[in-house]
Amino acid sequence: MPRPLLLGGTTEASALAALLAGAGIAARLSLAGRTKAPAAQPLPTRIGGFGGAEGLARYLHDQRITHVIDATHPFAAQMSRNAAQACAALNLPLLALSRAPWHAQAWDRWQRVPDIASAVAALDRPAARVFLAVGRMHLEAFAAQPQHHYLLRLVDAPEAVPLPRSECVVARGPFTLAGDLALLRAHGTELVVAKNAGGPGAVAKIAAARQLGLPVLMIDRPTLPDRAETHDPQAVMRWLGHADLGVKT
Ligand SMILES: NC(=O)c1ccc[n+]([C@@H]2O[C@H](COP(=O)([O-])OP(=O)(O)OC[C@H]3O[C@@H](n4cnc5c(N)ncnc54)[C@H](OP(=O)(O)O)[C@@H]3O)[C@@H](O)[C@H]2O)c1
Repeated sequence: MPRPLLLGGTTEASALAALLAGAGIAARLSLAGRTKAPAAQPLPTRIGGFGGAEGLARYLHDQRITHVIDATHPFAAQMSRNAAQACAALNLPLLALSRAPWHAQAWDRWQRVPDIASAVAALDRPAARVFLAVGRMHLEAFAAQPQHHYLLRLVDAPEAVPLPRSECVVARGPFTLAGDLALLRAHGTELVVAKNAGGPGAVAKIAAARQLGLPVLMIDRPTLPDRAETHDPQAVMRWLGHADLGVKT
């Protein structure tokens, strides 16, 4: 019987958690603990860091984990690196459940940048109304461009925002095109800044920008370790049940 560890914090991980629980697989879910009230989960859940790759390896050993599924966000690169390193050290099978990135379409006005620092640099321009859809953890960096009026959308109400001119909508995805069109119109948004998260849950803002002819400053994904990968939760179930992976490496 497999005893998988599911590294989560994403919609995809929650969907897989439901499949694992439904199949009666003795899986554990791990969350970083970034949100105050994470959605209820059908698996035994631990919360908080492991203490780097070494701490994770200790946990995997102590809990007699047989498989690791990395279903973290594509921008959670440190966790993915730690998972790859710990699994290599223990010779444990690792599979990433990931999302395909978004690709620009004909009418998109994307400016692609490689990372947060380049996004901040690209905002060195006259004041604009910016939808800054990068999550809570990187807001500080954008304080270097205080001239803009920033619209934020966060899962938890922030205690303090390091941006002098900003307003925050507290909401949890998935979001809809109609909702994001209304949001961008209501706030007079002139530019969207987004991470290329991929997947359907957060794409509405990109589709809304396309429809409104707005430019998007699109932050590319960080480099992730080489590992077996699938976008399909059912393929993860097959991987746990059979030696035959049926997933791309
Ligand atoms: N980055 C984003 O844009 C984003 C968006 C949506 C959701 N999330 C979710 O939020 C979590 C944190 O993201 P991040 O960008 O801070 O990741 P990160 O930079 O890769 O991780 C930093 C540290 O947080 C701990 N950690 C991360 N994910 C964990 C997990 N699932 N279980 C236990 N510990 C975890 C690890 O600490 P130790 O080294 O101490 O083990 C890791 O080294 C991830 O689980 C991710 O799926 C991230």
